Amino acid sequence: MNKKWWHDKVAYQIYPKSFLDANGDGIGDLEGIISRLDYLKELGVDIIWLSPIYKSPFVDQGYDIADYYAIAEEFGTMEQFDTLLAEAKKRGMYIIMDLVINHCSDKHEWFRKALADPEGEYGDYFYFRPGKLGGPPSNYRSYFGGSCWEKVPGRDLYYLHMFAKEQPDLNWENPVLRRRLYDMVNWWLDKGLAGFRIDAIINIKKDLDFPDLPPDGPDGLAGCWRMVEQVQGVGTFLTELRDSTFRQHDAFTVGEVFNMQPGQLPRFIGEDGYFSTIFDFSAHCLSDGGHGWYDAPKVEFAAWRKAVLDSQAEGMAAGFKANIIENHDEPRGVSRFLPDYAQTPAGAKMLGTVSLLLRGIPFIYQGQEIGMRNCRWNDIREFDDISTRDQYRLALAAGVPEAQALAACGAMSRDNARTPMQWSSEKNAGFTSGTPWMKVNPNYTQINVAAQEEDPDSVLRYYRTLVALRKDPAWRELFTYGSVEPAFQDRENVMAYTRTLGDRRVLVAANFGREPVTLNLDRPIKQLLLSNGPIAPTKDTLPLASCQCVVISY
Ligand code: GLC
Ligand code: CA
Repeated sequence: MNKKWWHDKVAYQIYPKSFLDANGDGIGDLEGIISRLDYLKELGVDIIWLSPIYKSPFVDQGYDIADYYAIAEEFGTMEQFDTLLAEAKKRGMYIIMDLVINHCSDKHEWFRKALADPEGEYGDYFYFRPGKLGGPPSNYRSYFGGSCWEKVPGRDLYYLHMFAKEQPDLNWENPVLRRRLYDMVNWWLDKGLAGFRIDAIINIKKDLDFPDLPPDGPDGLAGCWRMVEQVQGVGTFLTELRDSTFRQHDAFTVGEVFNMQPGQLPRFIGEDGYFSTIFDFSAHCLSDGGHGWYDAPKVEFAAWRKAVLDSQAEGMAAGFKANIIENHDEPRGVSRFLPDYAQTPAGAKMLGTVSLLLRGIPFIYQGQEIGMRNCRWNDIREFDDISTRDQYRLALAAGVPEAQALAACGAMSRDNARTPMQWSSEKNAGFTSGTPWMKVNPNYTQINVAAQEEDPDSVLRYYRTLVALRKDPAWRELFTYGSVEPAFQDRENVMAYTRTLGDRRVLVAANFGREPVTLNLDRPIKQLLLSNGPIAPTKDTLPLASCQCVVISY
């Protein structure tokens, strides 16, 4: 395998709006990020992914871009962005941005011109289609609910949007449009950006016949992702995108890819793949409800363990996956993947350990390193997220009682990850001196960075040690390139695997159960590398208390 510069890196996702507000307007900003680069450096972070900071009306929190070449005023200026790049570089860190090119904002100049003249040059940047039998061109449901087709006022003509109606899909069949996107990507890379996280990218290929599909819900619509699952040819676009941009800059790219057709993984992340890596969502997909969040199954330990380890085996055969516990679209991992009794600092450390030492590129999401949890939501009006509001309506329409619909949204809402970062026990968790744009999780008085800096047993201090272990020159190669083998799978509540490189082997083991367990080892322990609590192994037995994790070489 050819070694790449990013193989042994640790990444961190910043959700700029909620990270740190430096000017008191209640919205996180670039100044705030710059002021915390040393904090991230100390955590051991190499690559920082910024969720969108481009000019946007923020209908979908910046995933609706109105100008690909401008920084949102809310976040700062291009000069501040350049400072961020320079300051990161000084510290040996890399910045990657979100690349949202399946769609743009309806406020983008291209779309405004297209809407004014759908038959003109810009009309072909989007998908305009005539209606069918007095209705939209097909029966697709958008990811955020409702039809994928929005009517052009006064005409029997519709445009396609797979997300919100304010996010019209870009017509990738148009070579002029594609060229303009590549130019934009290269413009950022020339500036010194290290790469991109690539949003919703599997959706760029459409079936141009837009055939109706069998309805899969009481609304008579079919999820537009079913069209994505069937259509061929996305690879042609992705190859051209890679060759016209990323490849020339040796950029690091991480794709957001759901709905991949079977057997395609090597094409996406192999040696000659479209991307450096893609996120591993296999554990997250366990909560996919048949219809929505209201019927999302609870994640069971056995299914979670199997999903993670199966995905590792699949990844090993193809390339590197990017491992996450949570991100800005998911509830907090501590609340989701741990049973009630394990939603503690020990549990947060345990979950972090088994995730960060997997094979692949670890992405830590802001606040994960202090064990942030889901928020308590008392009213549907507390939510900002467009998708949460849709899921609430969906639940009510299915006859789910209000309290239950609210609870389902509380458990699954993307806003759980979007509450402000908890820096201290001061007002608004130290996030802003003004009025925060989004509710602060009231648990900030207990869970915050400042308190955890002082406490040698804190989740934060543990994460620093954990990342340092992964990057320790003695172990770095093994944690980067070592194979993964599931271990102790016959033990009901144990998540364990080995990492092996040459004649060196490390065991990562965690007891997710309520009762203590003892693991019998087939060879003697050489060295205890890490544990989240006092442990007394013998030569070949490893006793683990409830919520205890350990890393040994043996
Ligand atoms: C991706 C983003 C999500 C956004 C959607 C539309 O899934 O992660 O936040 O809403 O794409 O851009
Ligand atoms: Ca601000």
